[in-house]
Amino acid sequence: MKAKKIIITLTMSVLMFSYGFGQTIAGSAHDFSQETWNPNGEICQVCHTPHGAVIGLVAPLWNHEVSTATYQLYTNLISPSFDGITTQPDGSSKLCLSCHDGTVPLDNFGGATGGSEFITGNELIGTNLTTEHPISFIYDAALATTDGGLFDPTTQTSGLGGTIDGDMLLAQKLQCSSCHDVHNGSGVGNLLIKSNAGSALCLTCHNM
Ligand code: HEC
Ligand code: HEC
Ligand code: HEC
Ligand code: HEC
Repeated sequence: MKAKKIIITLTMSVLMFSYGFGQTIAGSAHDFSQETWNPNGEICQVCHTPHGAVIGLVAPLWNHEVSTATYQLYTNLISPSFDGITTQPDGSSKLCLSCHDGTVPLDNFGGATGGSEFITGNELIGTNLTTEHPISFIYDAALATTDGGLFDPTTQTSGLGGTIDGDMLLAQKLQCSSCHDVHNGSGVGNLLIKSNAGSALCLTCHNM
Protein backbone atom coordinates (compact mmCIF):
# COMPACT_ATOMS: atom_id res chain seq x y z
CA MET A 1 0.00 0.00 0.00
CA LYS A 2 2.67 2.41 1.10
CA ALA A 3 4.86 1.63 -1.92
CA LYS A 4 1.86 2.15 -4.20
CA LYS A 5 1.21 5.51 -2.60
CA ILE A 6 4.82 6.57 -3.14
CA ILE A 7 4.66 5.48 -6.78
CA ILE A 8 1.46 7.45 -7.28
CA THR A 9 3.00 10.50 -5.61
CA LEU A 10 6.11 10.18 -7.76
CA THR A 11 4.07 9.77 -10.94
CA MET A 12 2.01 12.82 -10.04
CA SER A 13 5.13 14.89 -9.41
CA VAL A 14 6.55 13.81 -12.77
CA LEU A 15 3.26 14.66 -14.50
CA MET A 16 3.06 18.01 -12.76
CA PHE A 17 6.66 18.69 -13.63
CA SER A 18 6.17 17.84 -17.31
CA TYR A 19 3.01 19.94 -17.42
CA GLY A 20 4.77 22.82 -15.70
CA PHE A 21 7.86 22.54 -17.88
CA GLY A 22 7.83 25.19 -20.58
CA GLN A 23 4.43 26.38 -19.43
CA THR A 24 5.03 30.02 -18.80
CA ILE A 25 1.73 31.85 -18.60
CA ALA A 26 3.29 33.74 -15.68
CA GLY A 27 4.91 36.82 -17.15
CA SER A 28 3.17 36.36 -20.53
CA ALA A 29 0.63 38.72 -22.09
CA HIS A 30 -2.09 36.61 -20.41
CA ASP A 31 -0.70 37.06 -16.90
CA PHE A 32 -3.09 39.67 -15.50
CA SER A 33 -1.97 39.23 -11.88
CA GLN A 34 -0.47 42.72 -11.74
CA GLU A 35 -3.46 44.54 -13.28
CA THR A 36 -5.35 47.01 -11.10
CA TRP A 37 -8.62 45.57 -12.47
CA ASN A 38 -7.67 42.16 -11.00
CA PRO A 39 -7.25 43.00 -7.32
CA ASN A 40 -7.00 39.34 -6.19
CA GLY A 41 -3.84 39.03 -8.25
CA GLU A 42 -4.76 35.53 -9.46
CA ILE A 43 -3.56 34.34 -12.88
CA CYS A 44 -6.07 31.62 -13.71
CA GLN A 45 -9.17 33.17 -12.14
CA VAL A 46 -9.73 35.75 -14.87
CA CYS A 47 -10.52 32.83 -17.22
CA HIS A 48 -11.20 29.77 -15.03
CA THR A 49 -12.80 28.96 -11.70
CA PRO A 50 -12.96 25.79 -9.63
CA HIS A 51 -16.56 26.60 -8.66
CA GLY A 52 -19.66 28.04 -10.30
CA ALA A 53 -18.37 28.06 -13.88
CA VAL A 54 -20.21 29.24 -16.98
CA ILE A 55 -21.44 25.97 -18.48
CA GLY A 56 -21.90 24.76 -22.04
CA LEU A 57 -18.50 25.96 -23.22
CA VAL A 58 -15.55 23.96 -24.52
CA ALA A 59 -13.07 25.42 -22.06
CA PRO A 60 -13.09 23.83 -18.66
CA LEU A 61 -14.62 25.77 -15.77
CA TRP A 62 -14.93 29.05 -17.67
CA ASN A 63 -15.16 32.14 -15.49
CA HIS A 64 -15.28 35.10 -17.90
CA GLU A 65 -18.38 36.73 -19.34
CA VAL A 66 -18.85 35.54 -22.93
CA SER A 67 -19.50 37.91 -25.81
CA THR A 68 -22.89 37.92 -27.54
CA ALA A 69 -21.65 39.90 -30.54
CA THR A 70 -22.55 38.97 -34.12
CA TYR A 71 -19.47 38.96 -36.34
CA GLN A 72 -18.83 39.82 -39.96
CA LEU A 73 -17.30 36.63 -41.30
CA TYR A 74 -14.36 35.93 -43.58
CA THR A 75 -16.89 34.58 -46.09
CA ASN A 76 -18.18 38.15 -46.50
CA LEU A 77 -14.97 38.77 -48.48
CA ILE A 78 -16.19 36.21 -51.02
CA SER A 79 -12.64 35.13 -51.72
CA PRO A 80 -13.06 32.95 -54.84
CA SER A 81 -10.50 30.43 -53.66
CA PHE A 82 -11.95 29.99 -50.19
CA ASP A 83 -13.52 26.53 -49.90
CA GLY A 84 -14.25 26.44 -46.18
CA ILE A 85 -17.70 27.03 -44.79
CA THR A 86 -17.79 29.50 -41.96
CA THR A 87 -20.50 30.05 -39.46
CA GLN A 88 -20.37 32.40 -36.48
CA PRO A 89 -17.30 31.72 -34.30
CA ASP A 90 -17.74 28.79 -31.93
CA GLY A 91 -15.70 26.61 -29.59
CA SER A 92 -12.73 28.13 -27.83
CA SER A 93 -12.54 31.01 -30.37
CA LYS A 94 -15.66 32.43 -28.75
CA LEU A 95 -13.77 32.56 -25.49
CA CYS A 96 -10.84 34.45 -27.04
CA LEU A 97 -13.25 36.88 -28.65
CA SER A 98 -14.89 37.49 -25.27
CA CYS A 99 -11.94 39.73 -24.55
CA HIS A 100 -10.50 40.33 -28.01
CA ASP A 101 -13.64 41.60 -29.77
CA GLY A 102 -13.68 44.54 -27.37
CA THR A 103 -17.37 44.28 -26.45
CA VAL A 104 -16.98 42.69 -22.99
CA PRO A 105 -14.92 44.34 -20.24
CA LEU A 106 -11.80 42.39 -19.24
CA ASP A 107 -12.83 42.67 -15.60
CA ASN A 108 -16.21 40.95 -16.13
CA PHE A 109 -15.19 37.65 -14.59
CA GLY A 110 -16.34 35.65 -11.59
CA GLY A 111 -19.90 36.83 -12.18
CA ALA A 112 -18.99 40.53 -12.09
CA THR A 113 -20.74 42.58 -14.77
CA GLY A 114 -19.83 46.18 -13.97
CA GLY A 115 -16.35 46.22 -15.48
CA SER A 116 -14.89 49.14 -17.39
CA GLU A 117 -11.52 47.89 -18.68
CA PHE A 118 -11.42 47.08 -22.40
CA ILE A 119 -8.73 45.63 -24.65
CA THR A 120 -7.01 48.22 -26.84
CA GLY A 121 -4.31 48.57 -29.49
CA ASN A 122 -3.08 45.73 -31.72
CA GLU A 123 -4.72 43.14 -29.48
CA LEU A 124 -8.20 44.52 -30.27
CA ILE A 125 -9.59 42.34 -33.08
CA GLY A 126 -13.13 43.72 -33.04
CA THR A 127 -16.23 42.14 -34.54
CA ASN A 128 -15.22 42.44 -38.21
CA LEU A 129 -13.47 39.15 -38.97
CA THR A 130 -13.44 39.58 -42.76
CA THR A 131 -9.81 40.66 -42.56
CA GLU A 132 -8.67 37.87 -40.20
CA HIS A 133 -7.59 34.30 -41.01
CA PRO A 134 -10.86 32.29 -41.23
CA ILE A 135 -11.78 30.34 -38.07
CA SER A 136 -14.46 27.94 -36.76
CA PHE A 137 -14.78 25.74 -39.85
CA ILE A 138 -14.01 22.07 -40.44
CA TYR A 139 -10.58 21.35 -41.91
CA ASP A 140 -10.53 17.71 -42.92
CA ALA A 141 -9.11 15.47 -45.63
CA ALA A 142 -12.01 16.37 -47.95
CA LEU A 143 -11.26 20.11 -47.70
CA ALA A 144 -7.58 19.42 -48.39
CA THR A 145 -8.55 17.54 -51.57
CA THR A 146 -10.99 20.24 -52.75
CA ASP A 147 -8.55 23.04 -52.02
CA GLY A 148 -5.44 21.40 -53.46
CA GLY A 149 -3.13 23.73 -51.53
CA LEU A 150 -3.53 22.20 -48.08
CA PHE A 151 -2.03 19.17 -46.39
CA ASP A 152 -4.33 16.36 -45.30
CA PRO A 153 -4.64 17.17 -41.57
CA THR A 154 -5.26 13.55 -40.62
CA THR A 155 -1.91 12.34 -41.95
CA GLN A 156 0.39 15.38 -42.09
CA THR A 157 2.62 15.89 -39.04
CA SER A 158 2.31 19.17 -37.19
CA GLY A 159 5.88 19.25 -35.93
CA LEU A 160 4.46 19.18 -32.42
CA GLY A 161 4.45 15.42 -31.98
CA GLY A 162 1.31 14.29 -33.80
CA THR A 163 -0.84 15.20 -36.80
CA ILE A 164 -2.33 18.61 -37.61
CA ASP A 165 -5.71 17.19 -36.69
CA GLY A 166 -4.50 15.87 -33.36
CA ASP A 167 -2.37 18.83 -32.29
CA MET A 168 -3.96 21.90 -33.88
CA LEU A 169 -7.64 21.27 -34.54
CA LEU A 170 -10.47 21.04 -32.05
CA ALA A 171 -13.20 18.60 -33.09
CA GLN A 172 -11.72 18.93 -36.63
CA LYS A 173 -12.18 22.70 -36.58
CA LEU A 174 -9.60 25.38 -37.11
CA GLN A 175 -9.85 27.84 -34.22
CA CYS A 176 -7.73 30.64 -32.75
CA SER A 177 -5.95 27.96 -30.73
CA SER A 178 -4.85 26.20 -33.94
CA CYS A 179 -2.18 28.89 -34.12
CA HIS A 180 -2.07 30.22 -30.56
CA ASP A 181 -1.42 28.70 -27.16
CA VAL A 182 -3.45 30.76 -24.72
CA HIS A 183 -1.21 29.58 -21.86
CA ASN A 184 2.05 30.39 -23.67
CA GLY A 185 3.11 26.74 -23.42
CA SER A 186 5.58 27.04 -26.30
CA GLY A 187 7.11 30.29 -25.09
CA VAL A 188 7.09 31.59 -28.70
CA GLY A 189 6.25 35.31 -29.15
CA ASN A 190 2.65 36.33 -29.84
CA LEU A 191 1.58 33.25 -27.86
CA LEU A 192 2.03 31.17 -31.01
CA ILE A 193 1.73 27.40 -30.81
CA LYS A 194 5.03 27.12 -32.70
CA SER A 195 7.54 29.46 -34.32
CA ASN A 196 6.51 31.18 -37.54
CA ALA A 197 10.11 31.83 -38.60
CA GLY A 198 10.30 31.39 -42.37
CA SER A 199 6.48 31.07 -42.23
CA ALA A 200 6.88 27.64 -40.62
CA LEU A 201 3.51 27.92 -38.89
CA CYS A 202 1.68 28.76 -42.13
CA LEU A 203 3.52 26.03 -44.03
CA THR A 204 2.44 23.44 -41.48
CA CYS A 205 -0.99 23.40 -43.14
CA HIS A 206 -0.53 25.24 -46.43
CA ASN A 207 1.25 23.14 -49.03
CA MET A 208 2.88 25.82 -51.15
C1 HEC B 1 -6.67 34.43 -20.83
C2 HEC B 1 -7.49 33.31 -20.46
C3 HEC B 1 -6.88 32.12 -19.77
C4 HEC B 1 -6.07 32.12 -18.66
C5 HEC B 1 -5.52 33.31 -17.89
C6 HEC B 1 -5.86 30.74 -18.32
N1 HEC B 1 -6.52 29.92 -19.22
FE1 HEC B 1 -6.66 27.89 -19.17
N2 HEC B 1 -7.74 27.88 -20.91
C7 HEC B 1 -8.14 29.01 -21.57
C8 HEC B 1 -8.84 28.62 -22.79
C9 HEC B 1 -9.44 29.57 -23.81
C10 HEC B 1 -8.86 27.21 -22.81
C11 HEC B 1 -9.50 26.32 -23.88
C12 HEC B 1 -8.56 25.46 -24.66
C13 HEC B 1 -7.51 26.19 -25.43
O1 HEC B 1 -7.80 27.09 -26.21
O2 HEC B 1 -6.33 25.85 -25.23
C14 HEC B 1 -8.16 26.77 -21.60
C15 HEC B 1 -7.96 25.44 -21.24
C16 HEC B 1 -7.39 25.04 -20.05
C17 HEC B 1 -7.24 23.66 -19.63
C18 HEC B 1 -7.66 22.45 -20.42
C19 HEC B 1 -6.50 21.79 -21.07
C20 HEC B 1 -5.88 22.65 -22.15
O3 HEC B 1 -4.73 23.08 -21.96
O4 HEC B 1 -6.55 22.92 -23.15
C21 HEC B 1 -6.63 23.68 -18.41
C22 HEC B 1 -6.26 22.49 -17.55
C23 HEC B 1 -6.38 25.07 -18.07
N3 HEC B 1 -6.85 25.87 -19.10
C24 HEC B 1 -5.76 25.49 -16.92
C25 HEC B 1 -5.37 26.80 -16.66
C26 HEC B 1 -4.61 27.20 -15.47
C27 HEC B 1 -4.16 26.25 -14.37
C28 HEC B 1 -4.42 28.56 -15.57
C29 HEC B 1 -3.62 29.46 -14.63
C30 HEC B 1 -2.23 29.07 -14.40
C31 HEC B 1 -5.06 28.99 -16.80
N4 HEC B 1 -5.60 27.90 -17.43
C32 HEC B 1 -5.11 30.29 -17.24
C33 HEC B 1 -7.93 30.32 -21.18
C34 HEC B 1 -7.15 30.74 -20.12
C1 HEC C 1 -3.86 24.83 -38.76
C2 HEC C 1 -3.70 24.96 -40.20
C3 HEC C 1 -3.42 26.31 -40.79
C4 HEC C 1 -2.44 27.19 -40.43
C5 HEC C 1 -1.41 27.03 -39.34
C6 HEC C 1 -2.58 28.33 -41.30
N1 HEC C 1 -3.62 28.13 -42.16
FE1 HEC C 1 -4.28 29.43 -43.55
N2 HEC C 1 -5.88 28.27 -43.91
C7 HEC C 1 -6.05 27.01 -43.43
C8 HEC C 1 -7.26 26.44 -43.98
C9 HEC C 1 -7.81 25.05 -43.70
C10 HEC C 1 -7.83 27.46 -44.81
C11 HEC C 1 -9.12 27.37 -45.64
C12 HEC C 1 -8.74 27.14 -47.06
C13 HEC C 1 -9.95 27.13 -47.96
O1 HEC C 1 -11.00 26.67 -47.53
O2 HEC C 1 -9.83 27.60 -49.08
C14 HEC C 1 -6.93 28.59 -44.73
C15 HEC C 1 -7.11 29.78 -45.42
C16 HEC C 1 -6.13 30.73 -45.60
C17 HEC C 1 -6.19 31.81 -46.54
C18 HEC C 1 -7.39 32.18 -47.38
C19 HEC C 1 -7.44 31.43 -48.63
C20 HEC C 1 -8.65 31.80 -49.47
O3 HEC C 1 -8.89 31.06 -50.39
O4 HEC C 1 -9.34 32.81 -49.22
C21 HEC C 1 -5.00 32.47 -46.48
C22 HEC C 1 -4.56 33.65 -47.31
C23 HEC C 1 -4.21 31.80 -45.45
N3 HEC C 1 -4.92 30.74 -44.97
C24 HEC C 1 -2.96 32.18 -45.06
C25 HEC C 1 -2.30 31.69 -43.94
C26 HEC C 1 -1.11 32.26 -43.37
C27 HEC C 1 -0.40 33.49 -43.89
C28 HEC C 1 -0.78 31.50 -42.30
C29 HEC C 1 0.35 31.69 -41.32
C30 HEC C 1 0.30 32.92 -40.55
C31 HEC C 1 -1.76 30.42 -42.22
N4 HEC C 1 -2.67 30.58 -43.22
C32 HEC C 1 -1.76 29.43 -41.28
C33 HEC C 1 -5.24 26.34 -42.54
C34 HEC C 1 -4.16 26.91 -41.89
C1 HEC D 1 -9.63 37.53 -20.14
C2 HEC D 1 -9.50 38.15 -21.42
C3 HEC D 1 -8.75 37.41 -22.50
C4 HEC D 1 -9.04 36.18 -23.03
C5 HEC D 1 -10.16 35.24 -22.64
C6 HEC D 1 -8.07 35.95 -24.07
N1 HEC D 1 -7.20 37.01 -24.14
FE1 HEC D 1 -5.61 37.21 -25.36
N2 HEC D 1 -5.08 38.96 -24.47
C7 HEC D 1 -5.87 39.64 -23.56
C8 HEC D 1 -5.24 40.92 -23.25
C9 HEC D 1 -5.81 41.98 -22.30
C10 HEC D 1 -4.06 40.99 -24.02
C11 HEC D 1 -3.08 42.15 -24.09
C12 HEC D 1 -2.12 42.11 -22.97
C13 HEC D 1 -1.12 43.25 -23.05
O1 HEC D 1 -1.33 44.21 -23.79
O2 HEC D 1 -0.11 43.11 -22.37
C14 HEC D 1 -4.00 39.75 -24.77
C15 HEC D 1 -2.97 39.42 -25.65
C16 HEC D 1 -3.03 38.38 -26.55
C17 HEC D 1 -2.06 38.13 -27.59
C18 HEC D 1 -0.80 38.94 -27.88
C19 HEC D 1 0.35 38.28 -27.20
C20 HEC D 1 1.62 39.08 -27.19
O3 HEC D 1 2.64 38.45 -26.84
O4 HEC D 1 1.60 40.28 -27.47
C21 HEC D 1 -2.50 37.04 -28.28
C22 HEC D 1 -1.84 36.38 -29.46
C23 HEC D 1 -3.73 36.59 -27.67
N3 HEC D 1 -4.02 37.42 -26.62
C24 HEC D 1 -4.49 35.53 -28.12
C25 HEC D 1 -5.57 34.99 -27.44
C26 HEC D 1 -6.24 33.76 -27.81
C27 HEC D 1 -5.90 32.94 -29.01
C28 HEC D 1 -7.21 33.54 -26.89
C29 HEC D 1 -8.17 32.35 -26.79
C30 HEC D 1 -7.60 31.01 -26.92
C31 HEC D 1 -7.18 34.65 -25.95
N4 HEC D 1 -6.17 35.49 -26.32
C32 HEC D 1 -8.03 34.82 -24.86
C33 HEC D 1 -7.03 39.17 -22.99
C34 HEC D 1 -7.60 37.93 -23.21
C1 HEC E 1 -3.80 30.80 -38.98
C2 HEC E 1 -3.13 31.18 -37.80
C3 HEC E 1 -3.80 32.13 -36.85
C4 HEC E 1 -5.12 32.11 -36.42
C5 HEC E 1 -6.20 31.15 -36.80
C6 HEC E 1 -5.23 33.20 -35.49
N1 HEC E 1 -4.04 33.86 -35.36
FE1 HEC E 1 -3.64 35.42 -34.12
N2 HEC E 1 -1.78 35.61 -34.92
C7 HEC E 1 -1.20 34.72 -35.79
C8 HEC E 1 0.15 35.12 -36.07
C9 HEC E 1 1.13 34.40 -36.98
C10 HEC E 1 0.38 36.31 -35.30
C11 HEC E 1 1.68 37.11 -35.23
C12 HEC E 1 1.59 38.47 -35.77
C13 HEC E 1 1.25 38.51 -37.21
O1 HEC E 1 1.85 37.79 -38.01
O2 HEC E 1 0.31 39.27 -37.55
C14 HEC E 1 -0.86 36.58 -34.61
C15 HEC E 1 -1.08 37.66 -33.77
C16 HEC E 1 -2.16 37.82 -32.93
C17 HEC E 1 -2.33 38.85 -31.92
C18 HEC E 1 -1.32 39.93 -31.58
C19 HEC E 1 -1.68 41.25 -32.18
C20 HEC E 1 -0.95 41.54 -33.42
O3 HEC E 1 -1.61 41.84 -34.45
O4 HEC E 1 0.28 41.48 -33.43
C21 HEC E 1 -3.54 38.65 -31.31
C22 HEC E 1 -4.15 39.46 -30.19
C23 HEC E 1 -4.14 37.48 -31.94
N3 HEC E 1 -3.29 37.00 -32.92
C24 HEC E 1 -5.34 36.93 -31.55
C25 HEC E 1 -6.03 35.96 -32.28
C26 HEC E 1 -7.40 35.55 -32.02
C27 HEC E 1 -8.27 36.08 -30.90
C28 HEC E 1 -7.71 34.62 -32.96
C29 HEC E 1 -9.06 33.99 -33.23
C30 HEC E 1 -10.15 34.92 -33.44
C31 HEC E 1 -6.51 34.42 -33.79
N4 HEC E 1 -5.52 35.25 -33.35
C32 HEC E 1 -6.41 33.50 -34.83
C33 HEC E 1 -1.81 33.59 -36.32
C34 HEC E 1 -3.13 33.25 -36.17
